[in-house]
This record gives sequence, structure tokens and C-alpha cells, in this order.
Amino acid sequence: MEKVPGAAAPAKGGARAKLIRLVYLSMRTRDLTAEDVDQIEGRSEANNLAAGITGLLIAQGQYFYGVMEGPRRPVMQRMEVVITDDRHMGLRILREEEIVARRFANWSFARLPDETTTRSFGMPLPGSFILELSRRLA
Ligand SMILES: Cc1cc2nc3c(=O)[nH]c(=O)nc-3n(C[C@H](O)[C@H](O)[C@H](O)COP(=O)(O)O)c2cc1C
Repeated sequence: MEKVPGAAAPAKGGARAKLIRLVYLSMRTRDLTAEDVDQIEGRSEANNLAAGITGLLIAQGQYFYGVMEGPRRPVMQRMEVVITDDRHMGLRILREEEIVARRFANWSFARLPDETTTRSFGMPLPGSFILELSRRLA
């Protein structure tokens, strides 16, 4: 039990393991089908929960904006998998920082309407929400 890597249980200094937060931006490589999105959401939720990772993933238009937080090792291991996922490319780590407390209680996924959709409702956005967010964090 105490040998399970990344377990949320406070085994061998687990409760005090250094927490980090990664903030990243990437671009999707193709149009994502509903199945792609379901799969990303489903696997991420399950894997992250098992690894003690919290955070969020926002998809808007061609961009993904993600935050991952948790003990350094599991976060880095998960990021190694995510970074090679061919459903997106050009992943840029905007921030990597040690944190004392988590900002997110669990992992969640959100899809924002892209700008073209929003524009057709007569409410133009000043620019991609995700890009604006990443500019503020860079
Ligand atoms: C933008 C993006 C973000 C992702 N974020 C996560 C994540 O936070 N956690 C995760 O386990 N998988 C994430 N994935 C999926 C992984 O790349 C990979 O497909 C998945 O972890 C494989 O899980 P499995 O081996 O359990 O099927 C993400 C994929 C994309 C395209």
C-alpha cells in the first residue's frame, strides 16, 4: 500500500511531498471529435485522481490551456505522457512553480465556445480568452 507511487495517502513523507504547479498552453493538431474530447476528459480524470493530481484543462478554438498541480514526481510523469500526445502540439510551459497549497480541489475540464461561435451571436471577444490568460501568466 505505501509503495504505490504517487498515492494520495500520506505514505513516507507523502503528506509533505513538495507540491508544484505547471501551467501550459498548446495547440490542437486537428479538429477534435466528441470521442477525442470524451477520451481526453475521461482518461485525464481517472489518471489524475489516481496520481493525486488536481487542476484543469480548458479548450477553446485551437488552444488548450492546462494547469496541473500535485507532488512533483507524478505531475512530471503525467506531463511526459501529455507532451507526446499527438492530438496537440507546441506545448509551452508558461509556469512551473513550487506551491504550498493547491488552488484546485479536483481535476476538471471545460470547453469554451470559440470566437467564431461567439461572434455569430454578436458578442465579439477581445481575443482568445486562453491567449489572454496565458499572456497574463507569461
Ligand atoms: C491537451 C491535453 C491535456 C491532457 N491532460 C491530461 C491530464 O491532465 N492527465 C492525463 O492523464 N492525461 C491527459 N491527457 C491525455 C494523455 O495525453 C494520454 O492520452 C492519457 O493520459 C493516456 O491515458 P491512459 O494510458 O490511461 O489511456 C491530455 C491530453 C491532451 C491532448
